[in-house]
Amino acid sequence: MKPVAPGAWLGLLGGGQLGRMFTMAAQSMGYRVVVVDPGSHSPAGSVADDHLRADYLDPDALDELGRRCAAVTTEFENVPAEALRRLATHCVVSPSADSVAVAQDRIREKRFLAGVGLGTAPFAVIEQSADLDALDPSLLPGILKRARFGYDGKGQARVATPAQARAAFEAMGGEPCVLEQKLDLALEISVVVARGFDDEVRTFPVAENAHAHGILDVSVVPARISAAQAQAARDATVRVAEALDYRGVLCVEYFILQDGRLLANEIAPRPHNSGHYTIDGCFTSQFEQQARVMCGLPLGDTALHGPAVMVNLLGDVWAAGEPDWIHVLRHPRAKLHLYGKTEARPGRKMGHFTVLGDDVAATEVLARAIKARLDADAAAVSAARIA
Ligand SMILES: Nc1ncnc2c1ncn2[C@@H]1O[C@H](COP(=O)(O)OP(=O)(O)O)[C@@H](O)[C@H]1O
Ligand SMILES: [Mg+2]
Repeated sequence: MKPVAPGAWLGLLGGGQLGRMFTMAAQSMGYRVVVVDPGSHSPAGSVADDHLRADYLDPDALDELGRRCAAVTTEFENVPAEALRRLATHCVVSPSADSVAVAQDRIREKRFLAGVGLGTAPFAVIEQSADLDALDPSLLPGILKRARFGYDGKGQARVATPAQARAAFEAMGGEPCVLEQKLDLALEISVVVARGFDDEVRTFPVAENAHAHGILDVSVVPARISAAQAQAARDATVRVAEALDYRGVLCVEYFILQDGRLLANEIAPRPHNSGHYTIDGCFTSQFEQQARVMCGLPLGDTALHGPAVMVNLLGDVWAAGEPDWIHVLRHPRAKLHLYGKTEARPGRKMGHFTVLGDDVAATEVLARAIKARLDADAAAVSAARIA
């Protein structure tokens, strides 16, 4: 692919925070970004050079986007495949409809992962209630997950008995699901990878992820696993990108079991929340890397400057109004990122901060202390309001 020169337009489907950080990275390299999003005040739309206020499936908007742009990407994983196919008739599309489709369906995703030789949690496909009659009892207690449109723990239910599984399946509308055995996890990790149109591929350092209420809470980098485990996870992620013939940035989430086994959990066909540390922590961010792929440029170095700990800021931290950011900013190696969302709701991703340090453990302690201070302020003022 001939490199796309700065000044060209890049298109983005979706207006959320991933799109915002992509837009900023592309703009800092001299590209112009046009966002398609139906909302009027989106995090990405408000920083983009242009904003087409349209639905992602609006054929006129897609044709305009495709004609204007050298390349188009998407920031969310449930982008309709038809939209990407239509765009591909006009311009470079990264990632392609076919590679996104695998990650959009947990059933296809699990079969694909097994096909490239990666272990997954033991599971059964549940397409109708009767599939639960023949359920292998060793899968319980388990987690029932909708095959499509689940994220941040939504569309999932923990079930201990066949009766609970049946009730959860009905409650989720009888849509196709997978029932996974609930595993005893030692650790969760993820790897972000970029693969270019010339087949160049680079992984980022492994992130160790802690979740709260199904949502990513803290990522610690480098993950505290052996060098061999880290290499195995990076190699596995390259295999996923190559087997999908993927062009762009993707993330694979893994479980590490108590016995040290590495199992693949899911694929996100885009930059990922667990890769936000790369903005401040690495020579090249996951968002710059996405822009480089789209523009046919060589990939940037993914090496880490030093230990980095990323903490998500959910709307809960706004319970008492705008937090006092001095708690973050008074630490000279803490980097604050806010997404420009005007309404803070519990569980809504409003921003994140990344603390850089020399020692992983000390960096994590500081990052968690900063978060605890923000949480305490939010709790104290809400408690005072109730009293
Ligand atoms: N089979 C499992 N065993 C134990 N914990 C699990 C299992 N599957 C998911 N989880 C937990 O639930 C979280 C969310 O599940 P995941 O499949 O990643 O869905 P989402 O699309 O919501 O991120 C995981 O990060 C993990 O903490
Ligand atoms: Mg997940």
